[in-house]
Amino acid sequence: MPKRMTRPRAGSQPPALPPCPGPKLAAFQHQNTQIKWIERLDIDRDSESTIQACVYKVEIKSKVYALKIFKFFDPAAVRYYWEPQLQNVVPLNEILFYTDPFFAECRAYGRIKEARVTKGIREKLAVPCHGYLFLTRSDERQLERDGVDLGPRSLSKEFRPPLWDTNLVRAIVKDFEPRPSGLNSKNVRLALRKLKRLNEIQVYNGDVRGENFRGGYLVDFGMSQTEPHCLLDTLEEAQADAKKEEDMVMFDEAVIEDEVKTTARAMSKRRQQPLRKGKI
Ligand SMILES: Nc1ncnc2c1ncn2[C@@H]1O[C@H](COP(=O)(O)OP(=O)(O)OP(=O)(O)O)[C@@H](O)[C@H]1O
Ligand SMILES: [Mg+2]
Repeated sequence: MPKRMTRPRAGSQPPALPPCPGPKLAAFQHQNTQIKWIERLDIDRDSESTIQACVYKVEIKSKVYALKIFKFFDPAAVRYYWEPQLQNVVPLNEILFYTDPFFAECRAYGRIKEARVTKGIREKLAVPCHGYLFLTRSDERQLERDGVDLGPRSLSKEFRPPLWDTNLVRAIVKDFEPRPSGLNSKNVRLALRKLKRLNEIQVYNGDVRGENFRGGYLVDFGMSQTEPHCLLDTLEEAQADAKKEEDMVMFDEAVIEDEVKTTARAMSKRRQQPLRKGKI
């Protein structure tokens, strides 16, 4: 019988994630190397209430990275989101792989890597990613000392994935992008071009807002859906098409919201939709 997945030992290579159909992200090479914590980066947030993750500037083996650390995620807390589509379609103990922002990022970055090989797309499409890692106990203590609350670790039994230790703190290693977040007249066309390319390789970001771009490149894929994905597969064709078009709608909204001086538009005029409720 295969062994339950636990914190990897030095020298062992953990599997690519998530362990289900679709693209996967490989483990960061220096998985067990000590992390030097420099500073917290996610300080320009709109609101603290919906935080799923925190981001630090770190040094690993003398190289600077951005490390996105994911809170524990309980599918039971967001039943409304997945249950109508996935109940009786996906086993409960696999729901985590389709709903947890960590696995959403694994999938998106996995596809970006895959597209280099299968489609020869070598251009930079997003702030580059170097793989995932699990924090050590000493790293967890460091975060606790810094006041980070990773949330409750208790996942009800029915949702516990097979061969997976849900107590592990997961993180994704990305390039540190020093340019500020936001869309502006200088980066907006680049941002739109890259977003369209991502949609072409079937990565739908789902959270297109100025604060999720740095230097014109997307940095946050926590809400993304990458095909094949059961949340897209179980929609009617028209609904799925509308879902896949949401990035373009959101892009135009972000341009208006952030008052970016540009004539660039994601949706053709004819197809532009009225702004969603609650947005100006
Ligand atoms: N690679 C990076 N380099 C520099 N700054 C970054 C990087 N990644 C993230 N940041 C900063 O941290 C902020 C939060 O990051 P991100 O958007 O990925 O997390 P989040 O919004 O908590 O994610 P989620 O939407 O999954 O909860 C970004 O808006 C950005 O300012
Ligand atoms: Mg974000």
